[in-house]
Amino acid sequence: MQRAAHTAPRAWSQIVGPATTRQCLKCRASLRPSTRAYGVLPPPRDGEEKDMLDRILRVDHAGEYGANRIYAGQMAVLGRSRVGPLIQEMWDQEKKHLEKFNEILAENRVRPTALLPLWNIAGFALGASSALLGKEGAMACTVAVEESISEHYNSQIRALMEKDPERYIELLNVIKEFRDDEMEHHDTGLAHDAETLPGYWLLKNAIQLGCRAAIYVSQRV
Ligand SMILES: [Fe+2]
Ligand SMILES: [Fe+2]
Repeated sequence: MQRAAHTAPRAWSQIVGPATTRQCLKCRASLRPSTRAYGVLPPPRDGEEKDMLDRILRVDHAGEYGANRIYAGQMAVLGRSRVGPLIQEMWDQEKKHLEKFNEILAENRVRPTALLPLWNIAGFALGASSALLGKEGAMACTVAVEESISEHYNSQIRALMEKDPERYIELLNVIKEFRDDEMEHHDTGLAHDAETLPGYWLLKNAIQLGCRAAIYVSQRV
């Protein structure tokens, strides 16, 4: 009786993305090599570099996840209002950012922060409660959050540029592109009367304090 040919698990080569030909551990069949040597990240040189890159990816993924939840909360309240389409537009960009980091995390086998369930609730609550203050409240929240995220991305860009701009070029391109989008969201918030909200500076500072705390813990947990 003819035995069914053992099919090499393709997913392995896709996930690992080998630079050289790999063999199936069961049947020794050659696995299709990846079309590129590596994805957004270079293969880590040592444990220290792996830790550094894991921290960067984990916190960035957490930030984009949180941003998505904030815009979801804002849309729940203001979705049918005049600013609905504007908020939706920014949310759509956040969806793309999150999708990209989901992809990079999976490719590099980095676990997301354990605090995602918390950011899920806290992000939505922040978005919805700021939107309950009206359009200006939502925009003030956007300005605060997007400024924090842009600054965070800028500090990562500086750190990676100091280390090795050539080596991290792909990751730098992703972060720079997203940083530009976040700056645009920030400017959109300002252009739509964020600063006219009574207590704007108080709210902005409180939200940014929260963002800094979220960034701090998401790098570590
Ligand atoms: Fe984003
Ligand atoms: Fe954004």
